[in-house]
Amino acid sequence: KDLSAPDRHTFIQGDICDTALVNRIFSESSIDTVAHFAAETHVDRSILGPAEFIQTNIVGTFTLLEAARTHWLDYRGASPEKKRFHHVSTDEVYGTLLPDAPDWTEDTPYDPSSPYSAAKASSDHLVRAYHRTYGLPVSITNCSNNYGPYQFPEKLIPLFILNAVQGRPLPVYGDGQQIRDWLYVEDHCEAILRVMTDGIVGQTYNIGGNNQPPNLVVIEQICAILDEMLPQSPFAPHKDLIKYVADRPGHDRRYAIDITKITTDLGWHPRQSLESGLQKTIDWYLGNPDWVSSIQSDTEFEIWIQKNYSNRGEGK
Ligand code: TYD
Repeated sequence: KDLSAPDRHTFIQGDICDTALVNRIFSESSIDTVAHFAAETHVDRSILGPAEFIQTNIVGTFTLLEAARTHWLDYRGASPEKKRFHHVSTDEVYGTLLPDAPDWTEDTPYDPSSPYSAAKASSDHLVRAYHRTYGLPVSITNCSNNYGPYQFPEKLIPLFILNAVQGRPLPVYGDGQQIRDWLYVEDHCEAILRVMTDGIVGQTYNIGGNNQPPNLVVIEQICAILDEMLPQSPFAPHKDLIKYVADRPGHDRRYAIDITKITTDLGWHPRQSLESGLQKTIDWYLGNPDWVSSIQSDTEFEIWIQKNYSNRGEGK
């Protein structure tokens, strides 16, 4: 109901591993484009329980590819060029970078570190194989760390915004000097749309926000924005809530993504700086307390927080 034209949309809740359901949707609707976002995405969850990552990310992608192959390539009268299977992936497939190593390009060999990134790498390989083997019209994007409205508060930015507002500790893994590239979610969506409409079939495009600060800088920026917005808060200055905790096993030290290809070939550029994107994100989390409490009151979320943080040792 929040969409601008809800009658142009159909929502079907289902599992991408459900072959019968996926095939029924392909049979009943004349689908010409798949934008495949569905995945298990949280590295910490993949460390504590990898099975779901193998199932959703690998088997789920395989299920969608098989349905597209069956329904599109056997379809007489429509050329496969009028179809597109777009696969949304991650820069984490490239592994980790030493401090002076060049940024990842689309040609960097895959070297994933976690069960999450290994499962995404595997799904990327399947998508490429369906293009080379069957001629399925695919494209792939590998993006950096997303943030913005509606992000589940297991990820760094929403978790830290909500913990800071509610006066809970901000659990910094290791020394907090890990580097990520941060991409505002709407910039990411615009880039995906651009690749689906103008990108060349069979190709991969890297997407990033051109922001590569250490985690502690991001965290301090969140705290500074909150100090300014909530000067009366009993938890200000919010950076006093920082608590160093034991590092994530296999923690990738540095991510940096080269976005030359998408900017020069397709003319896409990120619009948000980290500062403007964080401000929009914090405005959204503070302006949507009902959404926040519906997530935080879910027992599954509570169990996750206990599981990941309660037995974590001290850091630094
Ligand atoms: P995260 O949002 O989980 O994304 P990813 O692991 O895909 O990069 O984490 C971003 C960075 O923040 C990463 O270096 C791990 C770190 N981090 C913490 O220090 N504490 C936390 O509680 C979380 C969730 C992440």
